[in-house]
Amino acid sequence: MPDRVRKAVFPVAGLGTRLLPATKSIPKEMITIVDRPLIQYAVDEAREAGIEQLIFVTGRGKSALVDYFDQAFELEATLKAKGKSLDVLECSNASFGEVVTVRQQQPLGLGHAVWCARDIVGEEPFAVLLPDELMRGKPGCLAQMVEAYEKVGGNLVAALEVPDSETHKYGVIDPGASNGRLTEIRGLVEKPAPGSAPSNLMLPGRYILQPEVMRALDAQEKGAGGEIQLTDAMAKVIGRQPFHGYRFEGERYDCGSATGFVIANLAIALERSDTGPAVNDFISSLRGA
Ligand code: G1P
Repeated sequence: MPDRVRKAVFPVAGLGTRLLPATKSIPKEMITIVDRPLIQYAVDEAREAGIEQLIFVTGRGKSALVDYFDQAFELEATLKAKGKSLDVLECSNASFGEVVTVRQQQPLGLGHAVWCARDIVGEEPFAVLLPDELMRGKPGCLAQMVEAYEKVGGNLVAALEVPDSETHKYGVIDPGASNGRLTEIRGLVEKPAPGSAPSNLMLPGRYILQPEVMRALDAQEKGAGGEIQLTDAMAKVIGRQPFHGYRFEGERYDCGSATGFVIANLAIALERSDTGPAVNDFISSLRGA
């Protein structure tokens, strides 16, 4: 049985420029999908997968995100005094010591952001979740991955097929043999030039990695876009440790853009019993118009 995955790194230092002007004063991860900030979905997914420590790699202007997981005494006291339920806040109250933050002082890339958490992660396997990739599954994407990881160990990344015309935007897998939802990984390329991708299997932002990937990041080598890339560090351990892609069962919503946010809002509003019927009626009325 491989070592248990207890810690998850959430790189949340990005400026969110594709979502300006909203992100001028609100972290992108605090923009809501229905009535929950985007970060809540990634945290719920991590907790469901058994993660005990949430490591936020933050930056300037991101304090709202950390405050969100704190206990809001004044708010709770006011709600109590009014006889209102506190249940709605439960998911946002971190347990003591559950949230740890570290700053990425300069935007040097995703690999650099993850590396900023190296001392907190220490010598154990860890998960990485990119919160603007919203994953829906039963169980959640990371829980599915943990189950697969317990069988194969090593490094495991979520894998998702996209049209060939989109591979240049992502980390892309050079796939080996497949077995069910698992595919061996022979190579990884970050943002391959159009037409040169080894497959159309991309990395949608969920990873279970061994500490050797942190050691590979120590080199601080720059890759695509002049940034320190997580994909390049992962590529270095291929062949030295098991490395698999996992095609998860569920839906992925790319909330890195305004369109993605709107689609995710609609999809999740339709899923929920409190909002679904009214939103469904509204969509039907638009279709009928
Ligand atoms: C990052 C990763 C990339 C991954 C993508 C998923 O890219 O570097 O490998 O496929 O997230 O959203 P970014 O979107 O930060 O350019």
